[in-house]
Amino acid sequence: MKKKVIIKTEILCKSFVSDGEINNVIKNLDMEIYEGDFTVIMGSSGSGKSTLLYSISGMDEVTTGKVLFENQYITNLKEKDMAKLRKEKLGFVFQGIHLIPNLTVYENILSPTYKTKVIRKEIEDKIDSLLEKMHLSMQKKKFPNQMSGGEKQRVAICRALINNPKVLFADEPTGSLNSSQGKDVLDIFTNINLEGQSVVMVTHDLKAAIRGNRIIYLKDGRIDGDLQLDEYDISNSKDREEVVFKFLSEKGW
Ligand SMILES: Nc1ncnc2c1ncn2[C@@H]1O[C@H](COP(=O)(O)OP(=O)(O)OP(=O)(O)O)[C@@H](O)[C@H]1O
Ligand SMILES: [Mg+2]
Repeated sequence: MKKKVIIKTEILCKSFVSDGEINNVIKNLDMEIYEGDFTVIMGSSGSGKSTLLYSISGMDEVTTGKVLFENQYITNLKEKDMAKLRKEKLGFVFQGIHLIPNLTVYENILSPTYKTKVIRKEIEDKIDSLLEKMHLSMQKKKFPNQMSGGEKQRVAICRALINNPKVLFADEPTGSLNSSQGKDVLDIFTNINLEGQSVVMVTHDLKAAIRGNRIIYLKDGRIDGDLQLDEYDISNSKDREEVVFKFLSEKGW
């Protein structure tokens, strides 16, 4: 069955100007992300992964070209409409952890639900269940500066999931976690993906990458490889790891 496209870019370019020099980071990129996929974006440091994630999630303006979400151009949306779309349909876990320092864990997770129409009791139950899954139930009254990097990262993930996003974007979500905490986070991503939510995740970590069913390899702002794992008949994670590792090695990872 042909997959439905949820995000599409058309000749997308993103450049930065610093010290009078133009740095073209994303170069004429045409890409489609499919609904229900767990898409992984990999590539060396500086290849433009975070920049691409910010561009396709409407967190940052593009330089030229277009981004479509569910067949609608979002590139020229008014800031108010973009904010509404982000709040209702998209969740984002950043590379650096951006918690609000003067709010508790509970309030941080609650913050994206302000002005949504969901009933308060439902939100409270959802926060409790997310906190439990992330082993954070005892910490809900703490402030970010009273927590470890890994704990803060897990709070950021709860916050990204609170509004049940159609697409969860995550930039190196396991970067500051040890392997068992990383596994907990990846299990959550796998579960929400099995429940139908799309995931787009940037990672440097092979263990994280094999959670995806598709791996896009970015090199110098262009797509240099696109591995569709659905096309392989792989049943166990060891074989999956081998296929992914071979793909990445060929790309010079
Ligand atoms: N706000 C910015 N202003 C100027 N240059 C930027 C900005 N953000 C990113 N860049 C530049 O764009 C390039 C790509 O950065 P990006 O953060 O997308 O890389 P990345 O692939 O995510 O790397 P990493 O794996 O290290 O996170 C880098 O050369 C970086 O210096
Ligand atoms: Mg990055």
